[in-house]
Amino acid sequence: MDGNGRWARQRLLPRLAGHSQGVESLRRCVRACVARGVRALTVFAFSSENWGRPAEEVSGLMGLLAKALAREVPELSRDGVCVRFVGDREGLSESVRNGLAQAERATQGNSRLVLSVCFNYGGRWDIAQAAAALAARGEPITESALCGALALAHVPDPDLVIRTGGEKRLSNFLLWQAAYSELFFSDLLWPDFDEAALDAALDWYAGRERRFGRTSEQVRAGLEPEPLRA
Ligand code: FPP
Repeated sequence: MDGNGRWARQRLLPRLAGHSQGVESLRRCVRACVARGVRALTVFAFSSENWGRPAEEVSGLMGLLAKALAREVPELSRDGVCVRFVGDREGLSESVRNGLAQAERATQGNSRLVLSVCFNYGGRWDIAQAAAALAARGEPITESALCGALALAHVPDPDLVIRTGGEKRLSNFLLWQAAYSELFFSDLLWPDFDEAALDAALDWYAGRERRFGRTSEQVRAGLEPEPLRA
């Protein structure tokens, strides 16, 4: 969800106003995904590296999260959205941690859409914590064991990854899970990413041929891929 800061700067507003508008854009996007039958949506809200931003912006983002949770959870629940937070909770204050746990509890029975909010998250952190968990249990580190130990093990790998804001990089998002995802880059700033922009991304995705290492001929013949080696 990149581009909040630039959106604000273009309007001579503080960066936090851009993040605040980013929350509105997220709300719109979640509703649009529910309406379109998307079953899992994962968003990058705060990276392990975002701690390096000015203190005022970091504390502003924590405050926005708390406010958004208090305000949005009832409606998310009504829409059948199950909210999960993914990331290192150790680094978060107790009140933020409690807010996350409360939102998860309030929505845990919902199954229409799983909204995973990556907060204090990094793809490298996730791979390292999964490997450390297996090592601590004395389990062999295989692909399938790592998949099960990742913080995002509750949802399938993403079919489509969308990055807004014009940059063409993953910036430590879903490094493991995006191995075969289709990558869509939009020049729109996140607050401007609306239903039409989402539909454009979904239309583009619908035209992709996903081969997962196979040939076009195999895909067209409808052959199932060989199971991955553990
Ligand atoms: C990147 O834009 C965006 C973030 C670091 C924060 C994303 C957060 C939201 C969309 C709000 C939702 C989050 C919560 C708290 C629920 P940027 O600031 O890097 O933008 P820029 O590249 O234009 O400066």
